[in-house]
Amino acid sequence: MRTLSPRLLLIISGALAAAVVITLVLLSATGAVPPITAVELALSVLTLAAAAVIVLGARRTDGKALRIDARTKRQEAALARTEQSVTRLTTALDGLAGRLEDAAREQSRTVLAALGEDRVELTAQTGRLDRLAGTASRIETTLRQGAGDLEDLRKLRHDHEQLTALTSTAVRDLGDRLEALAGAVREGHAHLARSARHDYAQLEALIDVRALLEPRAPLPRLRGWAASPDVLRLLVERVAADHTKLIVECGSGASSVWLGYAVQRFGAGRVVALEHDERFAEASRDLVAAHGLQDVVEVRHAPLTTWTAPRTDSGEAGASGGESWPWYDTGAVEDLHGVGLVFVDGPPGATAPLARYPALPVLLPRCAADAWFVVDDTVRPDEREVADRWLREHPELTGSAYPAEKGAMILRRTPR
Ligand SMILES: C[S@@+](CC[C@H](N)C(=O)[O-])C[C@H]1O[C@@H](n2cnc3c(N)ncnc32)[C@H](O)[C@@H]1O
Repeated sequence: MRTLSPRLLLIISGALAAAVVITLVLLSATGAVPPITAVELALSVLTLAAAAVIVLGARRTDGKALRIDARTKRQEAALARTEQSVTRLTTALDGLAGRLEDAAREQSRTVLAALGEDRVELTAQTGRLDRLAGTASRIETTLRQGAGDLEDLRKLRHDHEQLTALTSTAVRDLGDRLEALAGAVREGHAHLARSARHDYAQLEALIDVRALLEPRAPLPRLRGWAASPDVLRLLVERVAADHTKLIVECGSGASSVWLGYAVQRFGAGRVVALEHDERFAEASRDLVAAHGLQDVVEVRHAPLTTWTAPRTDSGEAGASGGESWPWYDTGAVEDLHGVGLVFVDGPPGATAPLARYPALPVLLPRCAADAWFVVDDTVRPDEREVADRWLREHPELTGSAYPAEKGAMILRRTPR
């Protein structure tokens, strides 16, 4: 049978004591037991319980000590066993360590021997490696320099390309300019050649006219504003051929003097020069007087007034009827009849478009049947158009261009 543990016994003793005390209290309360007796009994029970507790506590302590002791002994035995094992292990380890040490020493000797052989090789290899490293370093330096040179070359090539592009543009440009220059030179040369031909022709005409007219004083300059020698020669030749009696000149100036000489020499007639500008009229009169031609040349101041072309019934296309121009006051020509030659060299183009148009419609009725009209400056579109209009509006006229430097047109009635 299993024995109860002191602890359980202690609990049971406590519980019994408590049960007895409670029972006594109840019995005392009911009066079954006198209180004094109950108290004495309770105290006795409690004393017994206390004694039991003490005994049981001692037993319990003692048991515990025994158990601890037994355990200690077991642990000591285990420790001894362990110590023996450790001793054996230590011994074994010592042996093992010795053997390992020997083996390591042997191994070290073998390795060192091997290393000894390798060291020589290693040293040689190191030397080679050092030399290789030196070579590699030199190669690297060379490569770096090469890369730098390549970069320089690349830049140089870029610059060269740009320079080539610029140069070719400049060369093209220069070529174009040279071509333009050559064109200009060719044009200039042609112009000079033309000009030389014209100058020569004018000189020839001038010499001819001077030889014909034998002027008594220095003659006014020709060309420019004044008529050119070639057209003057045409006029002088006309006077020489026709012995012209009356010449009308639209626009006075140097030509008035030349025509005066021509009339004096070949014509036995006179010249009437119309001038719209009073200052130029005066200047022309002075010029005429300087050559002693005042008896044959009359410069008439005829201011510009509005002249309107008379309407015709024909209604032909291109007819100028009703159109108006500023032209010399027609009062200045009312007394003139049988005009043999009209030189149309005014008014200036700036006064109106087709400024010279009225000359023919105004003067033709005052002309001889075989009269000539000479219009100067027909290289200009306005003067050319004036001559063309006259020819369109007067079918009885024949026109021919005269190769003068400023262009001239001769118009006259067609001979029957
Ligand atoms: C072409 S010019 C006539 C020149 C004239 N038949 C001659 O051969 O000398 C026409 C008009 O220009 C004006 N004129 C003349 N000499 C001029 C000059 N040096 N500068 C500006 N106008 C001038 C005059 O009014 C003249 O009637």
